[in-house]
Amino acid sequence: LILGIMASGSGSNFEAVARSIASGNLNAKIAVLIHNKPGIKAIERAQQHGIPTVFLDHRNYPTREELDRAIVDTFQAHQVECVVMAGWMRVITQILIDAFFDRIINIHPSLLPSFPGIHAIEQALAAKVKITGCTVHLVSLEVDAGPILVQAAVPVLANDTAETLHARVQIQEHLILPQAIEILAHQIN
Ligand code: GRF
Repeated sequence: LILGIMASGSGSNFEAVARSIASGNLNAKIAVLIHNKPGIKAIERAQQHGIPTVFLDHRNYPTREELDRAIVDTFQAHQVECVVMAGWMRVITQILIDAFFDRIINIHPSLLPSFPGIHAIEQALAAKVKITGCTVHLVSLEVDAGPILVQAAVPVLANDTAETLHARVQIQEHLILPQAIEILAHQIN
């Protein structure tokens, strides 16, 4: 399975997938990492794994559709079969969805459908839930929606800050993202 990964941040989920492949637990190959921010840690991680990176600066594209067209072109040039949104902080459009229909997954730091959007961790704390978690789902046009592939639950502790809770959620993210890719691989074959 040839993967294309999209990241806007630290890339720890990207790294979890790369390690899972390197250790023989996941039968896949990461063809390329697309990122939209210079200097992020994800780039360094990709270099360490010998994975090519492509920088697509969203400010160079007047519309979301034009950015997505560049993403699709990049992935197609690398023979990508499935797309993993691993902390990609831009809303995507039909252009990307049509090019990789039912072959795009996203990881989100809550038990969806609770707390969609970019403040999932803060919202879980504000709601005083005792359990939150993370979700990998197939991507649809609606943000943080689409069929769920894998979830993991994480306890919220009394003294949690956004940082401590996010760190605990990320441990589970790194486990379920490779699992979800495995499930996706079976679904499309
Ligand atoms: C993760 O918490 C993911 O759920 C969210 O963005 C974060 C990305 O973290 N969509 P990283 O860049 O993989 O470390």
